[in-house]
Amino acid sequence: MFSKPKPHDPAAQQPKPQSTSPAAAASTGAPVLVTTNLSKTFSNGGIQQHVLKNLDLDIYAGDFTVIMGPSGAGKSTLLYALAGMDTPSLGSLSFMGHEITGMSSDALAVLRREHCGFVFQKIYLLDNMSVLDNVLAPGLLVSKDRKAVTARAKQLLTQVNLAQSLWGKFPAQLSGGEAQRAAIARALVNHPTVVFADEPTGALNSANGQAVLDALSEVNAAGQSIVMVTHDIHSALRGNRIIYLADGGIRGECQLGTYPTAGAVQSQPAGQQAMASRRQQLDVFLTQMGW
Ligand SMILES: Nc1ncnc2c1ncn2[C@@H]1O[C@H](COP(=O)(O)OP(=O)(O)OP(=O)(O)O)[C@@H](O)[C@H]1O
Ligand SMILES: [Mg+2]
Repeated sequence: MFSKPKPHDPAAQQPKPQSTSPAAAASTGAPVLVTTNLSKTFSNGGIQQHVLKNLDLDIYAGDFTVIMGPSGAGKSTLLYALAGMDTPSLGSLSFMGHEITGMSSDALAVLRREHCGFVFQKIYLLDNMSVLDNVLAPGLLVSKDRKAVTARAKQLLTQVNLAQSLWGKFPAQLSGGEAQRAAIARALVNHPTVVFADEPTGALNSANGQAVLDALSEVNAAGQSIVMVTHDIHSALRGNRIIYLADGGIRGECQLGTYPTAGAVQSQPAGQQAMASRRQQLDVFLTQMGW
């Protein structure tokens, strides 16, 4: 439907000065998602709850954007709106330069299938398909090359630490964390332009959380954009841009620069110093935000 944006120039993704201005310009490539005056109101028992209020937000191609904020701030609501899974009450959303507010549901479905990967808290896997088929299914909708899609699916399942003995099982036979990792493999199979992830490590232990974050960092390094909601500092450190949502608006944002490669993090002592300084920068920002 739309052509994929070119991978960004890594040289352009240098650390930027920290900013807490809601209007601060970020980051790397061209805007891939643009919200204008985006608002979302829920009616709860006749009471109007204004969850998102007139948000103007650009998400840039090639960025690993992290959305943080208190519970109930509207992070998941924003992610659903950005992903075109929920309609804003007011305002508009454009994706890769195309206005998607008001687009037909069929056109939206094609757009999602070809360009988006989703890792959401409540949307995991299709119950009547094996794990491997769950990962293959979106791939086979856009490619006829079954062999290549199967190889990619198996590579992703291995990458997220899902043992081969689980590939033939049905989702109901998996633990929550296993299902979550399978869902991540499913989300990445089509090399999506943008991956939307809502607390993707929420149900995982440290090693499996690390594997999932490594998979996300890897697709980001290949030029794909990530928009991830998280409460977890270690997950947030993967992002190059952190947005803090509170009271229905963007309270501030912080640029952390590109996450160092695995080799650089492990190298002594410069890699560890870089990580410590990244962590300190994020801590200072979150303290300023009142987190
Ligand atoms: N479908 C809905 N109908 C009515 N109210 C909703 C709906 N979805 C969300 N809300 C309300 O909107 C507010 C924001 O919810 P949201 O799930 O976006 O928060 P969140 O920032 O993701 O929180 P958490 O960190 O706990 O996941 C909450 O008060 C919630 O009750
Ligand atoms: Mg949420």
